[in-house]
Amino acid sequence: MKKVLDNFIVLEGLDGSGTTTQLEKIAERFDRDEKAVHATFEPTTSALGKIVRSVLKKDLVTTPLALAMMFAADREDHLNNPVHGITHMLSRGETVLCDRYIFSSLAYQSIDCTYERISELNDFPYPAFIFYIDTPTEVCMQRIYRRDVQRELFEEDAYLDKVRQLYEKSFTDLPKEVTFVRIDGSKPIETVTEEIVETLKQHHIL
Ligand code: TYD
Repeated sequence: MKKVLDNFIVLEGLDGSGTTTQLEKIAERFDRDEKAVHATFEPTTSALGKIVRSVLKKDLVTTPLALAMMFAADREDHLNNPVHGITHMLSRGETVLCDRYIFSSLAYQSIDCTYERISELNDFPYPAFIFYIDTPTEVCMQRIYRRDVQRELFEEDAYLDKVRQLYEKSFTDLPKEVTFVRIDGSKPIETVTEEIVETLKQHHIL
């Protein structure tokens, strides 16, 4: 059975659901309370993460399975790197807050690969907390169009609807030690932040 990592918090959601904004807001709350937090994200800024991003930007063409393996390799390094890995940070007593984790791979990569294959590749420990920012696809698409950035591989609405279904599948059968919180991402940014903060306070993380 997969291990659950205490003090490891993950934010998940469709593109445009606001996970990156919430990562910043929650990290600010930890700072304000002078609590040690390591805010991070996937794909990472490592060499592996950079290759992943060039595939997402379509600068590099590969197969869906190779991409899934790259995400998994980036994740393995992110978790277990002896210098700056998540498990290293946790062992130093820091709380780790991560924008996207295994559930992103289960949701996105399972569209073009089988769910079972992606599960095998992502045999990593569970986080203690998952905050799923559940945002209507139309709202995500409006936010994506408003951003003045080059659109990436996965940002189409029919695609996001499939991702949503696979996210739901990935959240079934979580171990009981994992706290899963679904948050309505169409609510104002501050409300979403407060709901996350409230749960973390209840569990004495904040
Ligand atoms: P992210 O950087 O969070 O997106 P944004 O451009 O909104 O900041 O993630 C980049 C994309 O990568 C996003 O479409 C989701 C996708 N992704 C996967 O397909 N699998 C994964 O395992 C991860 C972590 C992300």
